[in-house]
Amino acid sequence: MSKPDKPKSVVSKTVDIAKKAATVAATRAAAQSITPDKVVIFDTTLRDGEQCPGATMTFEEKLEVADFLEEMGVDIIEAGFPIASDGDFEAVSAIAKRLKKSVVCGLSRAGMKDIDRAGEAVKHAARPRIHTFISTSSIHIKHKLMKTEEEVLGMIADQVARARNWCDDVEWSAEDATRTDIEYLIRCVDTAIKAGATTINLPDTVGYTTPDEYYEMFRAVRERVANSDKAIFSVHCHNDLGMAVANSLAGLRGGARQIECTINGIGERAGNAALEEVVVAIKTRGDVLPYTTGIRHEMLNRASKLVSAATSFPVQYNKAIVGRNAFAHESGIHQDGMIKNATTYEIMTPESVGVSKTSLVMGKHSGRAAFKQKIREMGYELGENALEDAFNRFKTLCDRKKHVYDEDIEALVDENIAVEHDHTKVVALIVIAGTMGPQSATLTLDVEGLHHTTQSTGNGPVDAIFNAIKKLVPHEAKLELYQVHAVTEGTDAQAEVSVRLADVVEGKSVTAKAADPDTLVASAKAYIMALNKLTAKRGRLHAQAAG
Ligand code: KIV
Ligand code: ZN
Repeated sequence: MSKPDKPKSVVSKTVDIAKKAATVAATRAAAQSITPDKVVIFDTTLRDGEQCPGATMTFEEKLEVADFLEEMGVDIIEAGFPIASDGDFEAVSAIAKRLKKSVVCGLSRAGMKDIDRAGEAVKHAARPRIHTFISTSSIHIKHKLMKTEEEVLGMIADQVARARNWCDDVEWSAEDATRTDIEYLIRCVDTAIKAGATTINLPDTVGYTTPDEYYEMFRAVRERVANSDKAIFSVHCHNDLGMAVANSLAGLRGGARQIECTINGIGERAGNAALEEVVVAIKTRGDVLPYTTGIRHEMLNRASKLVSAATSFPVQYNKAIVGRNAFAHESGIHQDGMIKNATTYEIMTPESVGVSKTSLVMGKHSGRAAFKQKIREMGYELGENALEDAFNRFKTLCDRKKHVYDEDIEALVDENIAVEHDHTKVVALIVIAGTMGPQSATLTLDVEGLHHTTQSTGNGPVDAIFNAIKKLVPHEAKLELYQVHAVTEGTDAQAEVSVRLADVVEGKSVTAKAADPDTLVASAKAYIMALNKLTAKRGRLHAQAAG
């Protein structure tokens, strides 16, 4: 059908269906040609998602998201609400021009100006759709529209007919359908289909319904509207009571074959049904949800990240399918099961939704088996005793520290190795300090069983000690940090010294701590311990590189 620049004037209630009989029949035939188990995925991230507070996207971001959704196999992309702003109009129009496969849809209220603006925006699309809606619940009709039910019925006929002047694919929504009297809802749907609507959406606008109730509404409407088979029915659920996905799936059982949803479930208030959740539920539970979608599910994780970045809306850690913990296991029992066989605790593979792999998160609930596996993945081969010791110290650390990172585990194991490979030890130290510089240090070290002594001066006693160490154990490591803490109070306090050395060649750093009532002895010990650690670490890295 050609798209007029200006719509024809519409004579309300006496829509000339006959004139359009051919195109209406074609659209309906298309609707019927959808196999019974195929569920059409209608993504409204760019409209219902974007209209929630704080989720605004730039023009470029909208195009990027639209391109991605099309590539991912989304059937219909609701690109915006063209009357809302010039920006929205431009974005819908640009998306309409660039997409080739997905239907591009623009939203409009019942007013003629609204519908025409939506029609203008989508008119260049390869597959345009106008989605027009009006409230049908008595609460909305009375308090928001301030109309009578009869007036609203007339508006439905007019709005659908007006939209049909722009394109053959017209969706009509009964806003607040789930709080609408069922008898009246049936009359509304009947009117919309007679006027030419090819998709009927019955939204749970306020997230109020329950799965059984939603199922029953679809069943009743489809059974009692005479020509209900001429349109595809659609679900659109908000998540105010956390039931958006469950309600959407119940709607399918009631005969709906289109799901309106958003990436990450973003949307008004508590959001909309999450696309990734409905798609993966259908994929995973084919035994009780006998449907298919055309979504390339391995792109879901990237879609989530893209939308999160574009909207600056973080994804909650425990979000189903795409949350960062969705494939992370911390409890010892679960980790043990996962190591033996992933199906023990995973109902789908992370790869199937685009997550690279399951992660065993190390924390206080982790068991020995997981710790051992982690250590191995990090390139360590520890004997039974060393492993047991490292595991015990890891558990102590978990009690003190909320987040235990790989670096913490590495430090902990390196420390163990440094003690095991304690090649160099401090034997004796004499320091001359005070106002009559230069300060000097006479140091004796045990290097692999042999004693070596030297004397050095420096800019202060600590500098003198470190210079003496360099003479006895020549090395390139760079001192990055030197810190002294008094562990207890008083002048006889234990001094705890931290030394961080960087291996400039390997690009790695190690930190060592030593305590002694003499700050200078603690300094020498900490430096030597750091050197031992660095040597052990270098040995491990070289062994790893050699395979
Ligand atoms: O929630 C709702 O009712 C809507 C309509 C505009 C479809 O978003
Ligand atoms: Zn909505």
